[in-house]
Amino acid sequence: MSLSVQEVNEAKAKALAEIGAAESAAKVEELRIKYISRNGLVPEFMKFMKDVAPADKPAMGVALNALRTEITDALTSRKSELASSGARHGAFDFSLPGNWPRAGAMHPVSSVIEETARIFGQLGFTVADGPDIETEFNNFDALNTAAHHPSRDPADTFWLEDGRLLRTQTSAVQIRVMQSRKPPVRIINPGRCYRRDTIDATHAANFHQIEGLYVDYTPVSLADLKSTLAHFAREMMGPGVKVRFRPHFFPFTEPSVEVDFSCHMCKGAGCRVCKQSGWIEIAGAGMVDPRVYKKIGYDEDLHGYAFGMGVERIAMIKHGITDLRLLYTNDLRYLQQFA
Ligand code: PHE
Repeated sequence: MSLSVQEVNEAKAKALAEIGAAESAAKVEELRIKYISRNGLVPEFMKFMKDVAPADKPAMGVALNALRTEITDALTSRKSELASSGARHGAFDFSLPGNWPRAGAMHPVSSVIEETARIFGQLGFTVADGPDIETEFNNFDALNTAAHHPSRDPADTFWLEDGRLLRTQTSAVQIRVMQSRKPPVRIINPGRCYRRDTIDATHAANFHQIEGLYVDYTPVSLADLKSTLAHFAREMMGPGVKVRFRPHFFPFTEPSVEVDFSCHMCKGAGCRVCKQSGWIEIAGAGMVDPRVYKKIGYDEDLHGYAFGMGVERIAMIKHGITDLRLLYTNDLRYLQQFA
């Protein structure tokens, strides 16, 4: 028996056509056995090499090598083509659900912060930033907080060994901003705060506040504060939401107020969300105490207001969330409903 280069090339063309037409992994495997397994055609052809005339050996060698490598490569690529087109076993089930990457979504706390920045941004406020680790000066002293004020107690504040602390309020950023800029100042600052509170449905040791500060040479009044917060309330909670001020005390504002929004759920009639009162406490606020200006070297006859509101609280009442811990247990089944 003899074998010519032409016969080898014809066999190769036939094999490559067959492999290209294979429609399933099983068929590819069948062709692999037919052509390149131990008893397949390629090893069979190789056996003829020893009978080839010496002058023809180089050409035959080239043809047989090409036969083996081209068939091997074609089998491999056809196999992966079929795998990636999903045509395993010659069938593709178009009713199977696809493999979609899961889209991320904003956490309710983050979306309240973004929305707040947007609303105040329209009023000309920019977003300022400050660190979570603060000095006692920025968190307490400069905010006119008495040396013996209970909030400084280690039972309430996380103190670090070097005398610094985890800020208990974003009000510390008021100090940073006033120390680094001249008036007029118009900023909000969203950020984390820390207090040694026992964790329950409405308290967390780590929570978020959004601070606001407006200081200018031209008169800024409590009425401006109220109208600004009323605008914010309507934008955030819906039209018709009202704002009320109740007298309060903060060391760094005078006068000081606590700010309530009318309940957006029951429109003020009284429900579970507002504990039947029709109002929900949202923020602390007031006119900046001139003693604060003095501490940081600002002119004492400037006019300004400040406010600080709880982000979790806004997220909770906005979405009717009854337990603050649900925001932080990271259960996607729960959080996804706000996406
Ligand atoms: N920092 C105060 C608090 O945490 C809130 C506040 C901010 C009050 C700004 C007045 C002005 O309770």
